[in-house]
This record gives sequence, structure tokens and C-alpha cells, in this order.
Amino acid sequence: MSEDAYRLTSPDGLEMELPIRKGTVGPDVIEIARLYREHKVFTYDPGFVSTGSCESDITYIDGEKGILMYRGYPVEQLAEHSSFIEVAYLLIHGDLPKVDQLAAFDNTIRRHTMLNEGMLSFFKGFRYDAHPMAMLSAVVGSMSAYYHDEMDATNPDHRDIFAHRILAKLPTIAAAAFKLNIGQPFMYPRNDLNYTENLLHMLFAVPAEPYEIDPVAADALDLLFILHADHEQNCSTSTVRMAGSSGANPYSAIAAGVAALWGPAHGGANEAVLNMLEDIGDVSQIGKYIDKAKDRNDPFRLMGFGHRVYKNFDPRATIIRGMCYKVLDRLGSQDTPLFDLALELEQIALKDDYFIEKNLYPNVDFYSGIIYRALGIPTSMFTVMFALGRSVGWTAHWREMIVDPTGRISRPRQLYTGPLARDYTQIEKR
Ligand code: CMC
Repeated sequence: MSEDAYRLTSPDGLEMELPIRKGTVGPDVIEIARLYREHKVFTYDPGFVSTGSCESDITYIDGEKGILMYRGYPVEQLAEHSSFIEVAYLLIHGDLPKVDQLAAFDNTIRRHTMLNEGMLSFFKGFRYDAHPMAMLSAVVGSMSAYYHDEMDATNPDHRDIFAHRILAKLPTIAAAAFKLNIGQPFMYPRNDLNYTENLLHMLFAVPAEPYEIDPVAADALDLLFILHADHEQNCSTSTVRMAGSSGANPYSAIAAGVAALWGPAHGGANEAVLNMLEDIGDVSQIGKYIDKAKDRNDPFRLMGFGHRVYKNFDPRATIIRGMCYKVLDRLGSQDTPLFDLALELEQIALKDDYFIEKNLYPNVDFYSGIIYRALGIPTSMFTVMFALGRSVGWTAHWREMIVDPTGRISRPRQLYTGPLARDYTQIEKR
């Protein structure tokens, strides 16, 4: 018997030995891949609360200590010193780039920003008030109709081109969706601008007059994109991996990830936080909403609070809260009352026994919407902004999954609780 094994005894006295695997850091993992073949039982873990689905060397989270690292680098250091494009290189290629590597990568991304002109005409078909996440997932899915000559997942060059296209074109698609919603002409990308400057230009410039890019706005977006870039096996990333595991083309896998991100328990929470803060409206109403969140019979939850992995402060929320002060100070104070309300809500919740006992802290979505709103980005676009940052993580995970020699199609099992076998009865006899 190996020392590094977990031993279980079945109800009929059968000994099972399950190998234990160790990562570079973090809890050990009990390998159960052969459990069914050797012992004819499955494990049961709805929501994958205790289940690791893959091996990965991209991102590490310690939810007890509030630690997040990309490729070993603490997110706080990347937030302070790096840029989104550099972090994208790090996540996709595994190491920080040298000067010439970063310049080449940045240049490549700038030169892939235009959409095939045919794709732009899709936007004429959407209703003017279509949700931008609906348009994003549809148009990203349609990329496979335009770039199918270069999507052979076994070809490393094609995998690189896919990564460049996703990273470079998502802002253009996002901006086109925004412009449709507000009835303004689409603005073509400008390759002389960096990633976030170009996004601001495509969102807010109009052909009729020059648009001046505010460096504080560009920096704030860059920071938010760094903080959203990856978060290991979250719902949308797992969706990308799962869709991709069937051999589906990568654009379809990313479109599936966009759809999964949209839900209010995931990336849709940033939109839900702002709606909630507006509903609360005033500090005097906070108590009422805290009570609603604690009431088991009320479906209301404090949006932007709680996390599957973090049982401590989400380090991203702390950094974003700091950025809120800078952005609100620079861009004017009209959103300051909303920020003050969020700060007060955080303080009251953190002192409440319910939130203390359940380890519920503000997550990445609690403060991000305040920054987006101060930049003039409407609530419906918040989750799209999340998707732009997370597109890097989705891409890195898809690339890791596709070359994993142990990779197989994702196909969980179930605990069947339906009827036993019964005979078909003719309709007139039922
Ligand atoms: N407000 C009130 N109670 C909560 C909240 C909340 N925001 N979050 C969790 N709880 C309670 C929940 O009712 C449960 O109580 P009990 O044990 O008595 O049944 C307990 O805390 C554990 O919650 P859970 O739903 O079992 O935990 P989970 O890991 O399945 O869900 C979550 C995590 C993030 C979906 C959840 O905390 C939540 O719905 N939060 C609000 C939505 C949100 O902010 N989502 C963004 C997540 S971070 C960014 C991202 O992933 O995109």
C-alpha cells in the first residue's frame, strides 16, 4: 500500500485505496478517476464544491487567506506594476514577457482589432435595446463562421491566431453593441491607441468631433481588466473548458463562456450590485435590505457579497475599492453618494453575525460597477466589461485544456432518481 493514498472501506467491507496528488501549493487532491472502474461507485458533488476538474498551472487562489496569484505572481503586484496586455501575455504564455516580446504581442493585438466587415452587419439585425451580453455571445460564436480557416486546435499557430483574435476583437464587438444600444455610429478601432484607450475611443468617440481620452479612465479600466483576467475554474471558465473538451471550435467555447458569465451569481453580479444600491437608495434603508438578505424565505441576496472560494476578503475587491476613491476624485463627485452607500453597506454587513458566521465578504463585483458608472459605462455593459478581462483567462484555459495529454471529453455522471423501467402504454389506455 502506498503511503500517499486515501483509504476508504465500502459498506460490504471492501478496502479502496485512492491515490493522493499534490500540487505545488494548496490542498491535496484525492484522485477518483478509477473509482467507478474498480469499485462501481461514483462520487456525488453538486456544484463541484469539493471537486477538482483538471490540473492547471495558470492561477492559484487561497480562499482562506485571500490570496490570488497569476502564474505565481500576486495579483496585488501585477495590479501595481503591470498592464493588462502584459498580464494577458503572462496568462497565455506562462511567463512575463521581455521588452521585445511585449512589444511584438502588443503590436499583434493592435493589428487584429478590426472585425470582418460582414460581422458588423449582424448588429443591424439586433433590436436596438438588445442586451449587449446577448449580442456579445452571439457575435463571438459567429467568429467561427468568419475565421474557420485557422481554427485547427492541433495547430499551434492556429491556437495563437485564435488567442490574438479573441483578445483584440472582443472590445470592438463590445463597443459595436454599445453603439447600437445608444443609436450612435460605430467607431472603427484605432491601432495607434493602447487596449483600454482604444476601447474608450470606440465606446465614447463620435465622428462629429474629436474625443479626448482621459488617462485616469484608461488606467482604471486597465486595472479592472487585470483583476478580472482569470480566476481558475470558475463557472464560465469551466464552461469554456467543458465545451472545448468535445473538440468544439474555440470561438464556440468562448461564446459558451460568455453565456455562463452573464448569470447574476457570476459576472452578472456587477450589474445586480448597482441595481441593488439604487434600490436601497439611502443609508437609512440598509437595515431593511440586510434583513431581507438574512431571511431564508426571501430569495434576495446581498449582491457582490459571498464567494465559493473566498472565505476572507476578496483581494480584488480591496484593490478596486482603493481605485474608486481615485476615479471618483478625478471624474467628479456625482457617483460619490453611491460609493458612500456601498462603503456603509459593507461596514454594516461585516459587523453582522449572519455575514460573519457564513464568511461573506465583498467580492470583485461589489465595487467595480461604481467605477464603470463613473466612467459613463451603462449598467447593461458592466458584465461585458468583465467578459473583456476574463477573455484572457478563458483563452489561456482553453489552450491549456487542448494540449493536456490526459484530457478527455468532460462528461460527469449522476445519481438517477427517476422511475424504474416500465412498459409503454398506448395513449388511449393512460
Ligand atoms: N447574501 C446573503 N446570503 C448569502 C449570500 C449573499 N450574497 N451569499 C451566500 N449566502 C448564504 C447562503 O444563503 C448560504 O446560507 P445557508 O448555508 O444558510 O444555506 C450560505 O451563505 C452559503 O451560500 P451558497 O450559495 O451555498 O454558496 P455558494 O458558494 O454556492 O455561492 C455565490 C457563492 C457567489 C454564488 C453566493 O455567495 C452569491 O449568490 N452571492 C451573490 C452574487 C454575487 O455576488 N456573485 C458574484 C461572485 S464573485 C464574481 C464571479 O464569480 O463572477
